[in-house]
Amino acid sequence: MAEMGIYQAMSTLRAVRRLKPDPVPDDVLHRVLEAATWAPTGGNAQPWRIIVVKERERRARLGALYAERWKVFSKAYRANLANLPEPARARMERNLKAADHLGDHMGGAPVIAIVCFNPKQMAITDSKLDRPSVVGGASVYPAVENLLLGCRAEGLGCVLTTLLCECAPQVRALLGIPDPWGTAAAIPIGFPVGRGHGPITRRSVQELAYLDSWGTPISLSSR
Ligand SMILES: Cc1cc2nc3c(=O)[nH]c(=O)nc-3n(C[C@H](O)[C@H](O)[C@H](O)COP(=O)(O)O)c2cc1C
Repeated sequence: MAEMGIYQAMSTLRAVRRLKPDPVPDDVLHRVLEAATWAPTGGNAQPWRIIVVKERERRARLGALYAERWKVFSKAYRANLANLPEPARARMERNLKAADHLGDHMGGAPVIAIVCFNPKQMAITDSKLDRPSVVGGASVYPAVENLLLGCRAEGLGCVLTTLLCECAPQVRALLGIPDPWGTAAAIPIGFPVGRGHGPITRRSVQELAYLDSWGTPISLSSR
């Protein structure tokens, strides 16, 4: 079993999009899937399933669907990039190159984990508010994060992707996903071509957390 400090794993869990085609050993896959099962869900309902797609033809089909969507998405994304100040623009450009690579090679990942969810098994407490609902995802994405952290600990590259959710009908037909199950993420998994996971760029605690009320700065000793 791989050993790694939890903070080290979290702070180096960057998107890894260049993956070797080498198979992932079953025992390793089992461990990272078990990590997903440990995640909390509303009422402990565990309203998610993961389809571990290993069959070459199905991966190729998923890859082709992803490539189509990525072409459309990346064009719009690139158009906005020019307005960004440096060095953020250069960083985004680098990320986009890696994302382009995934766009062309998603189907070559030895494993694509398709995360499914059942809205009927969720208490979606914000479904009647006048804005897009997010609460349902809270019973799915903690499992996804556990899976990603498991991959990180095992030295496997991975990245959470959601573009394929745009073509849920085709993915559901390809994988035999029944009603009312939907798709929440597609995670290519494999050993990294380069260094794999590593340093990440994120906003600070001061920017993202407040004390007692919205906007009130929080100052905590960080010893
Ligand atoms: C909800 C969500 C959806 C994402 N969808 C995609 C995607 O469809 N394709 C992709 O290449 N990366 C996707 N990503 C990865 C993000 O682009 C990546 O985590 C972010 O840019 C930070 O990069 P870093 O972790 O390498 O620092 C997604 C991440 C999240 C959390």
